[in-house]
Amino acid sequence: MTGSMTKKPLLTIKNVTKKFGPIAAVDGIDLDIYENEFFALLGPSGCGKTTLLRMIAGFEFPTSGAILLSGQDIAPLPPEKRPLNLMFQSYALFPHMTVRQNLAYGLEVERLDKAEIRRRVDETLASTDLSELAERKPEQLSGGQKQRVALARALVKKPKLLLLDEPLGALDKKLRERMQLELKRLQHEAGITFVIVTHDQEEALVMADRMAILKSGRLLQVGSPEEVYEAPSDPFVANFIGIMNFLKGRMETDGAFTAEGHSLLPGAPAKAGLALLAVRPEHVTLSADGEGLAGVISDIAYHGLDRVVHVRTAASDGPVQVRVKADEGRGLDIGSPVRLAFNAAKCRVFAAEGGLAAQS
Ligand SMILES: Nc1ncnc2c1ncn2[C@@H]1O[C@H](COP(=O)(O)OP(=O)(O)O)[C@@H](O)[C@H]1O
Ligand SMILES: [Mg+2]
Repeated sequence: MTGSMTKKPLLTIKNVTKKFGPIAAVDGIDLDIYENEFFALLGPSGCGKTTLLRMIAGFEFPTSGAILLSGQDIAPLPPEKRPLNLMFQSYALFPHMTVRQNLAYGLEVERLDKAEIRRRVDETLASTDLSELAERKPEQLSGGQKQRVALARALVKKPKLLLLDEPLGALDKKLRERMQLELKRLQHEAGITFVIVTHDQEEALVMADRMAILKSGRLLQVGSPEEVYEAPSDPFVANFIGIMNFLKGRMETDGAFTAEGHSLLPGAPAKAGLALLAVRPEHVTLSADGEGLAGVISDIAYHGLDRVVHVRTAASDGPVQVRVKADEGRGLDIGSPVRLAFNAAKCRVFAAEGGLAAQS
């Protein structure tokens, strides 16, 4: 959302399809990515993320469609002539070179003069917090440090566009969370457009200005993390991003959704017929009696700040998850009957075409 309407796209993907034999790994994708954006491609394993990235980088060619950079078709350009850099998941550092030499190598290939190379390498080492490790070899570095060197090696070349394929995949959770923020800072400081591939929805939510959700080679939704979280375009996206509860019921012609005798007026209704209501755990409230959908507590998970109460109902396949403040959840017991109420404005309804088992 941030100003993308006024900017020209840096990267335009126009109806791109990539087939491997009969299988379309990427299937008719249209996408604009803007200058200075931190853009995440998100989707389950095998949905075509790497294939799309490799086509942008020039290691694969589209079966059909076009990829434009600053308005120019880059099909004729070999990978090394494209003003972009692809950072591989395996880092691919030169093992016999020091950190400094790893960074300098790409600039030496470009035949920049020695002083300029020195200046740019020093500057990049400093901004990536690697100055003190400059004379080490990759084998003397931790996983997180190697990751940082791979990133520095890409940044030092000042590409217009940096493509990162699951860059944090090999790191443990704590380090990954720190690197997410660091990547964001570096992207911001360097003023380079980042396109990052991840299968981790939380990572995409934390880092991205905008994100695209892919499934089986197709683009399901593009938007800011807030847009995608708050207004998922279909049950797959709803289920993939964050935790989502689904209730099976009916959309009535008067705009009400009904399930097991409970009725509400959802914020975004669907057409009449069999339907799935999607609602986040933070938009469900729980009471001991009174109005609401009847259920029975099946589990209570303590998360520090809050508890997630699992409630079995006749309207849902799995338990409905309800987020409550930790102290509010203190008196609840497994096995107790409860009533669930839903913040209707935050509920979304999807027509259940072809049955009600559509959410995964
Ligand atoms: N070189 C290839 N030859 C045949 N099939 C491939 C090749 N590369 C990828 N695929 C297939 O294309 C689909 C998408 O793969 P990929 O882009 O690697 O997915 P992701 O990165 O999202 O996990 C998968 O079904 C994969 O098996
Ligand atoms: Mg991949």
